[in-house]
Amino acid sequence: MNIPLVDLRKQYDPLKEDILQRMSTVLDGMHLFLGENVQALEGEFAAFCGASHGIGVGDGTDALHLIIRAMGIGPGDEVITVANTFVATVEAIVLAGATPVFVDIDPQTHLMDVQQVADAVTARTRAILPVHLYGQPVDMAPVQEIAQAHGLKIIEDACQAHGAEYRGQRTGSLGDAAAFSFYYSKNLGAYGEGGMVVTSDDDLAERIRMLRDHGSKERYYHDLVGCNSRLDELQAAVLRAKLPHLSAWNALRSEHARAYSALLAESSAVLPTEMPDVRHVYHLYAIRVPQRDALRARLQERGVGTGIHYPVPIHLQRAYAYLGYQGGDLPVTESAAREILSLPMYPELADDEIAYVADAVREFFGEKALTRTA
Ligand SMILES: Cc1ncc(COP(=O)(O)O)c(C=O)c1O
Repeated sequence: MNIPLVDLRKQYDPLKEDILQRMSTVLDGMHLFLGENVQALEGEFAAFCGASHGIGVGDGTDALHLIIRAMGIGPGDEVITVANTFVATVEAIVLAGATPVFVDIDPQTHLMDVQQVADAVTARTRAILPVHLYGQPVDMAPVQEIAQAHGLKIIEDACQAHGAEYRGQRTGSLGDAAAFSFYYSKNLGAYGEGGMVVTSDDDLAERIRMLRDHGSKERYYHDLVGCNSRLDELQAAVLRAKLPHLSAWNALRSEHARAYSALLAESSAVLPTEMPDVRHVYHLYAIRVPQRDALRARLQERGVGTGIHYPVPIHLQRAYAYLGYQGGDLPVTESAAREILSLPMYPELADDEIAYVADAVREFFGEKALTRTA
């Protein structure tokens, strides 16, 4: 069997006619940027998240960067975040001129260890930037408490967590502003680059709307130093075709995760932990095994695609060496980076494919296959 980490064709095939029709309408109208699809998507996605404003931007990295800039966070300011994330989280802080300060992750969830955040707050801290990695929301109540106590902003990196919930509230409504990515393999993905800021702060929304379009409200009149980060109409049209399916796709991802966990029960692999009070949308299903690289190679031999999210924590990346962190500073993050392995995960994954992947993992450990009980 050949089972890739992600199979986007399987999602495209049933939607093909609708998507092509919508794209054709955009091209017939030749209104290619910030037109009716972007505007409608901004409203629809903000409503989906339970927030007032959506601002379509070029990608998730820009969404984070523009939030930070629009909050007036820059040189001399610190933003508390994690090193177990895609580089863009940290890049956005640095691009704004601010300094990232890392806390370690929780060994169960691999998300921000919220117990460490209070100790990381200094007189320079301006914001906390939790990353809802793999599709699971960070434990936000303690983050909200610390933010309130110290007058800090909360910026959610929700780039992997479209539709995830914490205590019944969706990501995008758990802080002051949230960044979403529509990179093609995300739970809601475009067919090119795309991103969105979601917020209920009217002033912040207004500033980000200006920043994404060269700092202007009116063409050729520039009140802020902005940039060019506009979501385009073709991508917005694709995303509008897909958004109505997102909840069903997320439900399928959760079902697949339950099936994996049942089939891998009591195996040598450490399985993902789903926290109480959250709806995890399983952008990724990441297991932990000390023999990660050998397992990965064996799975590849058996036709199973896997991923490592992420192999080198940001504090140990060459580009960020200037921050002064060293190996051993974030021990939980560092050991996760050595052991984490993402198994195939997408809504269209079939039961027999999940069973095949699970059997291949068990076989690697010399363990007998289980039959599905979930
Ligand atoms: C956690 C996280 N943050 C930020 C980003 C950046 O998003 P984009 O690739 O759309 O710039 C991504 C996605 O790639 C991500 O996974």
